[in-house]
Amino acid sequence: MNNGLFITGTDTGVGKTVVAATLAYALHQRHLNFSYIKPVESGISNQEYLEKNSDAALVKRAGFLTEPLNEIVPFTFREALAPLLAARREGLKLSGKDLGESIKARIKPSKLTLVEGAGGLLAPLCPNYLIIDLVKELQLPVLVVCRTSLGAINHTLLTLDRLRQEGIHTIGIIANHLTAATGPAEETFITQLTEFDPVTVFGELPFLKKPPSDLKDWERLRAHIDTNKLLKRITGNT
Ligand SMILES: Nc1ncnc2c1ncn2[C@@H]1O[C@H](COP(=O)(O)OP(=O)(O)OP(=O)(O)O)[C@@H](O)[C@H]1O
Ligand SMILES: [Mg+2]
Repeated sequence: MNNGLFITGTDTGVGKTVVAATLAYALHQRHLNFSYIKPVESGISNQEYLEKNSDAALVKRAGFLTEPLNEIVPFTFREALAPLLAARREGLKLSGKDLGESIKARIKPSKLTLVEGAGGLLAPLCPNYLIIDLVKELQLPVLVVCRTSLGAINHTLLTLDRLRQEGIHTIGIIANHLTAATGPAEETFITQLTEFDPVTVFGELPFLKKPPSDLKDWERLRAHIDTNKLLKRITGNT
């Protein structure tokens, strides 16, 4: 097992980057040697977007990372589409083998590496190659980020089931309140989920009125994640 964590989600837009940024902030506060890789990022229309608005830039700022952005996110596509579709529309040919090997080579045993997927576990990355194939290639333990609204139990159980079927080491989940809704579905999400799956829950992130983006936001969100437990699970010291 490699040294790090693969952050996947039940879908696109569920908060993988927000979780990655919060963890990066927490790891920096602990003076730990770590890096973050976003293997592929779509919707990078120009250099300014990459530097200001990309997932890579957000996590780089949160974790005070010094690596250049093109190392953090080695493959970018202009259109905000699933990576395979975006690549095809640009006429780019990238094989899963090349992508997997290139990302694997960037993961160093001496450094805890956070890797953020794209979309959900079965999002198409390359021809005949899904995010789950990259997860298997990288051999990192997996963290699942999920929402808490109606439908989230189904998506989360499906994701956890597939990870289990594939024999992938999954350390647990972080549930993210993506909206201000506080109905019965949101309030009971964790208890309902754990009634059906004994998964470890590292935290439940509150909805922030302004999209989280600065150090105060990461500080606030960090308080809702049991980082001690999460780090112990990553390093296998439980
Ligand atoms: N707890 C929260 N409170 C308020 N806004 C949130 C919260 N979590 C996420 N968001 C917002 O929801 C959107 C999606 O979050 P994020 O970019 O982290 O998702 P993602 O899973 O990384 O998406 P992608 O698949 O595109 O990488 C962002 O605009 C983010 O600011
Ligand atoms: Mg993201």
